[in-house]
Amino acid sequence: MCGIVGYIGSEQAVPILLESLKMLEYRGYDSAGVTVFNGSLETYKIAGRIKDLETVIPQNLTGNTGIGHTRWATHGKPETRNAHPHLSSNVSVVHNGIIENYMELKERLSGLGYEFLSDTDTEVIAHLLHFNMNCDGNKCLLDGLAETVKELEGSYAIAALCAEEPEILAFARKDSPLVIGIGEGSNYAASDVTAFLRHTKEVIFINDNEIGLLRPGSIEIFDQGGNRLSRETETIEWDLEAAEKAGYEHFMLKEIHEQPTSIQNTFAGKLSELEGTVTLDELHLEPAEIKRLRRVTIIACGTSWNAGILGKYLFEKLAGLHTDVETASEFRYSNPVLCGEELTIAITQSGETADTLAAVRSSSSYGCRSIAITNVVGSTITREADSVLYTRAGPEIGVAATKTFTAQLIALYMLAINLGRIRGIISANEAKDLIVGIKRLPGQIQKVLGRKDVINDCAMQFADKRDYFFIGRYLNYPVALEGALKLKEISYIHAEGYAAGELKHGPLALITEDTPVVAIATKGHTYEKILSNIKEVKARNATVIAVADDDDTEIEKYVDVVLRVPSSHELLAPVLSSVVLQLLSYYTALAKYCSIDKPRNLAKSVTVE
Ligand code: F6R
Repeated sequence: MCGIVGYIGSEQAVPILLESLKMLEYRGYDSAGVTVFNGSLETYKIAGRIKDLETVIPQNLTGNTGIGHTRWATHGKPETRNAHPHLSSNVSVVHNGIIENYMELKERLSGLGYEFLSDTDTEVIAHLLHFNMNCDGNKCLLDGLAETVKELEGSYAIAALCAEEPEILAFARKDSPLVIGIGEGSNYAASDVTAFLRHTKEVIFINDNEIGLLRPGSIEIFDQGGNRLSRETETIEWDLEAAEKAGYEHFMLKEIHEQPTSIQNTFAGKLSELEGTVTLDELHLEPAEIKRLRRVTIIACGTSWNAGILGKYLFEKLAGLHTDVETASEFRYSNPVLCGEELTIAITQSGETADTLAAVRSSSSYGCRSIAITNVVGSTITREADSVLYTRAGPEIGVAATKTFTAQLIALYMLAINLGRIRGIISANEAKDLIVGIKRLPGQIQKVLGRKDVINDCAMQFADKRDYFFIGRYLNYPVALEGALKLKEISYIHAEGYAAGELKHGPLALITEDTPVVAIATKGHTYEKILSNIKEVKARNATVIAVADDDDTEIEKYVDVVLRVPSSHELLAPVLSSVVLQLLSYYTALAKYCSIDKPRNLAKSVTVE
């Protein structure tokens, strides 16, 4: 995820900015850059690491004011021209977030003669700021920024400099983190406190819709109406190591907690509740082509394959499309029967999984149109597939996929609704219900996260077991698969994910009083069926842990432990249940002192066959 930093004070800015950017490296990034005021604004940026950036900054660059950025590509590839800071004449801007209306603004600013040098959404902020400072008499940087943020839709933490006002650094925030560090004769701005913790622990957290400026010895903060705000400083109690994980013990836990925001980023700017539509222009699929489609083939591995199973049910129900889900490593050596009127969807968070890439090449050789659902801009799959739907979950550092999985689910919901509306399979009202439900998910995930103590207690109760079963039906079947995969991957407990109706065809022989069975039993048309399966395993003395809706008053009668999720649209419940199972795995692995972020034998990106 992008990180911004800013410094103004009595020290040399370059070493402080570079050190701050290094502290933000843990967030993940592909490019970096700085602007320093040295009589004029001098900007250096590069696609690559901070150590590469150090080599392009002149040794003798002096200046006491600067801003810097680590970029994790969301709009435009990881290339130097897309790295921040972005400039417009005498202003320089760094930004973390997504500007949803950037295309509209870009068109307007291009019409006014502004030349765009990057593919980013951020460059519109720089030009808009320059325009607003100059269009109507001369405005100062702060007033220009106040005008600018009024026109931005989306999320942003911005730091900006103007060559004519080197004594100030301006900032603004909405839906992206921004914190100010207060030093002695020096002030700092950053996406998180880690960036300047070496210099100060005294901070002010900037709230949404606040704007302000730093001078070496003072800070001014204003609300949207231009009223000056008086804010208390807080003292950070963390040490540096903890702060790198934003206070969480592991990246996995941090990433689980990021899901309210990460899924919001996945659907930002794409859902119209009013019209019951999902806009996915980036796929460049013509309505006529969508109507002609006969079949979908989903290709993926591991967690992404589990997401694919949910995708199958969604495409069949919402878009009336027969869908197969193929394991990439098998598909590439099989003899698929494919024809032109099919869509191949490759799901891969890394975009680099060798088997998935090879399978997509194979499907393209049959003339199939392909879409990649991936989290990494510029990854290899984005060059192999005909078009790309980015999940925008931010970098995932823990090996076990968590936030990228739920972001994949959101991408699949959006794609299924989009195809289903164009193909006339679902009505605007059905789509509206789903869209309203998707928009409620971030808040509902937050509620699940608030119940982590109950999940932790449950995990500790069964952490010494040798085997676990996860069962679910219909949309809860892929949730069971993913729950089992997560548990075995990080806690090394043998776990099986099963379609609950299949138990009696063999695995029931393994169920004993020593086998916890997790039944995903959220409400839906298979609810009665899963209750029967629960009774089957209870009859073999298994301990049953149910994942059930808040308003389910019946389930307690049949099971030993209930882990609750907020009641939601039947099709959307898998997102919430998955978060419960991620936490269950996490706390089980924690109780067993496992290496959670780097499980044995596993890699984040599987680039070999
Ligand atoms: C499990 C996990 C793996 C990946 C698999 C495919 O937590 O992360 O099972 O899902 O290696 O990786 P991508 O999605 O990068 O193709």
